[in-house]
Amino acid sequence: MSTLLHIDSSVRAASNPNPDHDSISKNIALRFIETWRKNRPGDEYIYRDVGVNPPDFITQDWIGAVFTPEEKRTPAQKERLALSDKLIAEVSAADVILISSPMYNYGMPAQLKAWFDQIVRINKTFDFDLARGDYPLQPMLSGKTLIIVTSSGEYGFEKGGIRESSGHLVPHLRTLSKYLGADTIYEIAAEYQEFGDERHRISVANARARAESIALELSVAARSQSPEDETTNFQQCY
Ligand SMILES: Cc1cc2nc3c(=O)[nH]c(=O)nc-3n(C[C@H](O)[C@H](O)[C@H](O)COP(=O)(O)O)c2cc1C
Repeated sequence: MSTLLHIDSSVRAASNPNPDHDSISKNIALRFIETWRKNRPGDEYIYRDVGVNPPDFITQDWIGAVFTPEEKRTPAQKERLALSDKLIAEVSAADVILISSPMYNYGMPAQLKAWFDQIVRINKTFDFDLARGDYPLQPMLSGKTLIIVTSSGEYGFEKGGIRESSGHLVPHLRTLSKYLGADTIYEIAAEYQEFGDERHRISVANARARAESIALELSVAARSQSPEDETTNFQQCY
């Protein structure tokens, strides 16, 4: 059995009375999740919509609690870290992490950054040792696969693209991915939303197809690694 952690972060819902308002990133992510879960119905699935239910921002008290040795933390400090503990436990338990994100102001939504701020935590997801010279931080988690789904209004944020220098969303997620323990990353991007033209339609269709094909590829690989899962209805999806 694997554990799939799914984090959505658009403030828009996946389905709205006016479908023009539906979140593109959430719907592409859903294509991945539905394909995965059809192939591997016995897997653990954890879902958070941080766009609609954002984690608290960290505070000075939060930092104080983090840097207080565990055995010396007051009940109030433990309470202050309870959400962080829970979110980290979800990441730790996951084999596959899917993060969907809109591009807001050329980066990730504040809500998703708030989630990362709760998770990237000393002695939980990284440790710190000056004996390592210029690179004192070392990630503590490993072995996970990360799927990044993004949607943007403009286009050309990739390497060599016309807006490469403004593309702070995927590069930031890549940088943070090591604190999630991601060794393997798949990226799926839909672009052109603000143009609303044929390029947008094709971009979204391609992203959905890619989400489905990556989900198939990974769920087949996960299945071959866990023979006890052979009772799942993998064959039925073809
Ligand atoms: C507050 C806000 C800021 C945005 N900033 C950018 C931006 O900097 N660059 C861009 O290409 N698109 C930008 N967009 C467009 C969104 O990235 C686009 O609508 C995307 O599809 C949103 O994701 P969603 O469909 O999952 O909600 C912005 C949209 C909003 C609402």
